[in-house]
Amino acid sequence: LGTCQQIWQALTDAAYDRKGLLVNLGGGVIGDMGGFCAATYKRGIAFAQVPTTLLAQVDASVGGKLGIDFMGFKNHIGVFCQPKLVAVCPAFLETLPPRELRSGFAEVLKHCLIRDRAWWERLRRARPDRLPEGLSWLDIVAHSIGVKDAVVAADPTERGLRKILNFGHTAGHAVETFFLQEGPKLLHGEAIAVGMVAEAYLSWRRGWISRPDLDAVAACLLGIYGKVRLEERRIGEMAALAVQDKKNEGGTVMAALLEGGIGQAGYDHALSMAELEESLRFYASL
Ligand SMILES: NC(=O)c1ccc[n+]([C@@H]2O[C@H](COP(=O)([O-])OP(=O)(O)OC[C@H]3O[C@@H](n4cnc5c(N)ncnc54)[C@H](O)[C@@H]3O)[C@@H](O)[C@H]2O)c1
Repeated sequence: LGTCQQIWQALTDAAYDRKGLLVNLGGGVIGDMGGFCAATYKRGIAFAQVPTTLLAQVDASVGGKLGIDFMGFKNHIGVFCQPKLVAVCPAFLETLPPRELRSGFAEVLKHCLIRDRAWWERLRRARPDRLPEGLSWLDIVAHSIGVKDAVVAADPTERGLRKILNFGHTAGHAVETFFLQEGPKLLHGEAIAVGMVAEAYLSWRRGWISRPDLDAVAACLLGIYGKVRLEERRIGEMAALAVQDKKNEGGTVMAALLEGGIGQAGYDHALSMAELEESLRFYASL
């Protein structure tokens, strides 16, 4: 919020009027914060997103969710507001640290898993530093934005379908929060990779994906992200963190799972604590 004040101050000093355009050049933090400041300055001026990380290009800059952290809570204050323009240039990825590139790639894989089996087959053996023959970042980013954009267009304010974008994020956020508190901190995509393995397992347990598909998801994600060590005696605590999730309703933990197989996610699947713990134990057993 302190940084937002500086931005509002700069807009005021520069005498920005309501015809102004704020251009947010940077990663997801800049896009979210700059967008939030634009959406609230004088009740809203136009803004453009120029995302420079893979995560921001395929995820944060698309969909109109703008949030800032407040008192230690992530995205606690925010609005829905669409940018006038999102300009994506893959050349920015050339300077991105490899770990950040890998983190963003988790959302690319998520988009394939929830909506597009054919693209999952194309990308599941890819590595962010070794793209498949004939595919460029431009192709991959364009496909990924296309998936998110179509989902958001069908449900801009997350009343239904948009929830499928949360695949991997129920277990993943719990793991992310746990390591934020305990260290070492994980990048978002690294935590979501754990969450996608756990939630693919739950999809398999419900008979929605085959065992070879589950094994392929686990092999792909562990191959790229390695294995995060989850201590058996802390798994209960970790799963309990999922109760805090914004996606829950009335204290029930809700998740998006691959209910129609790979490439077809569904939402609003209630999870018991026992199931969540079992899914994290499955990950730990790999
Ligand atoms: N609004 C949404 O729908 C949405 C969706 C997903 C994530 N997010 C938000 O996005 C944020 C994470 O975004 P992020 O992963 O882009 O992190 P980030 O903005 O913190 O950027 C990661 C790091 O990369 C650096 N960087 C950015 N571009 C670079 C480039 N081209 N070359 C070299 N370094 C570069 C940044 O300075 C930073 O250190 C989180 O706050 C998350 O809540 C929002």
